[in-house]
Amino acid sequence: MAELRSRRSNLAVPGSNPRFLDKARGLDADQVFLDLEDACAPLAKPAARKNIVAALTEGGWGDKIRTVRVNDWTTQWTYQDVIEVVGGAGADLDCIMLPKVQDAGQVQALDMLLAQVERAHGLPVGRIGIEAQIETAQGLVNVNQIAFASPRIETIIFGPADFMASINMKSLVVGALHPDYPGDPFHYILMQILMAARARGVQAIDGPFLQVRDVDAFREVARRSAMLGFDGKWVLHPGQIDAANEIYAPSQADYDHAELILDAYDWATSEAGGAKGSAMLGDEMIDEASRKMALVIAGKGRAAGLSRTSSFTPPEG
Ligand code: GLV
Ligand code: MG
Repeated sequence: MAELRSRRSNLAVPGSNPRFLDKARGLDADQVFLDLEDACAPLAKPAARKNIVAALTEGGWGDKIRTVRVNDWTTQWTYQDVIEVVGGAGADLDCIMLPKVQDAGQVQALDMLLAQVERAHGLPVGRIGIEAQIETAQGLVNVNQIAFASPRIETIIFGPADFMASINMKSLVVGALHPDYPGDPFHYILMQILMAARARGVQAIDGPFLQVRDVDAFREVARRSAMLGFDGKWVLHPGQIDAANEIYAPSQADYDHAELILDAYDWATSEAGGAKGSAMLGDEMIDEASRKMALVIAGKGRAAGLSRTSSFTPPEG
């Protein structure tokens, strides 16, 4: 997996609302994405570009990942979004999010436009990442090529609301289970996105849950994608942030256990530990595969800022 910058909570902030942009700075989200797409009415887009440039260049975002979601390539707005936002605030921006990505060509087009704007403004070429949102049947069919379309790709994101519309799903509750379907209707889609992201070594991010006052229902949906291996989820409301930060980080017990496995296996494979390929940690047998699983959990825990509450002591004799 690529270097893991924590993206447990991805806060959506409409670019058309300077008050929300201001407030977002102080919230505890790992990432903010300032939206020029669906949360911005067509008539509000020109002003929103300016609000976003001002909000980014003013700073104060701490170590949050700063992303701007531009409009998709089928509109008339994408090129101007990129030229204005990257031209005005390229040095204060980490990623551009591209919605409704249909194929690898759309990612490559954004990559080339970014490179030109970076060159024109004396910015390092290639530093700004791309987050690709999968929101249509066509995008999902092409997700593997999309994941490999550019070295700038940092995340593959599920856009459940647009996706449900794209496949004519018979429900209006985004991301939730439905009593008429005996399973999780999103499982196949989430797994396709996760496989593409993992094959490419980038992060997989789950999309929004719209019933923003029902944090228990948000938790339920989030726990499912976290369990599969997703790295984070969008949050639309400050009330969803703590839940996402908690659910997409390992529990303290799992984090401690993962660090113990790493230390114990390190010791077991060393000369002092007998140069063994497998060993016992309490009642558990650990080997190289255990180390790999532990690395994932420990990596996520470290990225989330967890600290160990136990330490490894080599067995005597
Ligand atoms: C997000 O953009 C979604 O469509 O769910
Ligand atoms: Mg969408």
